[in-house]
Amino acid sequence: MISPFLPASRRAVVLSLVALLALAAAGCGPKTETAAPAAAPKPGAVRIGFLVKQPEEPWFQLEWKFADQAAKDLGFTLIKNGAPDGEKVLAAIDNLAANGAQGFIVCAPDTRLGPAIVAKAKAAGLKLLAVDDQFIGPDGKPMAQVHYLGISARKIGAAVGETLAAEFKRRQWPVAETAVLAMTYDELATAKERTDGAIDALVAAGIPADRIHKAPQRTTDIPGALEAATTLLTRHPGVKYWLVCGNNDNGVLGAVRALEGRRIPVENAVAVGINGTDCIAELEKAKPTSFHGSMLLSAKAHGYRTAEMMYRWIKDGVEPPLDTRTVGVLITRENFRQVLREQGVRD
Ligand code: GLA
Repeated sequence: MISPFLPASRRAVVLSLVALLALAAAGCGPKTETAAPAAAPKPGAVRIGFLVKQPEEPWFQLEWKFADQAAKDLGFTLIKNGAPDGEKVLAAIDNLAANGAQGFIVCAPDTRLGPAIVAKAKAAGLKLLAVDDQFIGPDGKPMAQVHYLGISARKIGAAVGETLAAEFKRRQWPVAETAVLAMTYDELATAKERTDGAIDALVAAGIPADRIHKAPQRTTDIPGALEAATTLLTRHPGVKYWLVCGNNDNGVLGAVRALEGRRIPVENAVAVGINGTDCIAELEKAKPTSFHGSMLLSAKAHGYRTAEMMYRWIKDGVEPPLDTRTVGVLITRENFRQVLREQGVRD
């Protein structure tokens, strides 16, 4: 127990010592799901890392599940690590190098870490493939020279906007009583492209630009979205009908919870997510909510294919394409069970 009576500066020193000791006790590095081998790996044995920013999100768990499948099919070792901040991602790369990995796939917690991650991978002689979130260079532009697999964000966003517009027309809501709630996270390029794509499609379908309201999320989880949406809805008490889009399922689910909190009737809002993997429990609810559906992305392409690309690169010297984009397909309460089964997400 650290005395609360120590001066703040001393307390900080003691706390860092405690943290250091705890790290030493834990074996210093971040935990991996494979036991750290004492001996060097067998010559020719392929070891691939897979680091993700939000290991608690079903999307990333599915990427891992499919990458595990690739490891089993192709016969390599997969080392999975959660890397929710810069320090952890850099430590995890050191750990991979120490464990004899030859390459890794990463969804970085902040895309501006790109140059630091590239430098570390290079120094350790590790091949690198960015998944989901493309690295941003010091000039603020995507690092196009770093191999990347991600979604066709603008197109998928546009499909969200078109789905919302079709529901708006089908329900014959008056424009003057309808507004759009866009859950945004503009710090992340793929997220901004998704919501920009949705907004453009809604404007093209006849929603006036001044009826589109952006709720910037501080964090990309449900609590972050709930907070942002609640603040925005409080500012627009006169709107009767809401069309909701966002960066992913969690953003849109937070907005749906906020609408419920404001007692907006379920049938007065339509919300469409992206991922399709983090909204299954919502679609399974016996009583429908305002969550209409989601653009299901290909977790298999993002998990299995990236792992396979990395394996071929290491084993056979086959360099993957620099930029690979994947598509999405709409799931709703009507078809989600069948589509999830077809895509191998659910049995
Ligand atoms: C980002 C999002 C994830 C998921 C992936 C898909 O990383 O945070 O929820 O949508 O993109 O590429």
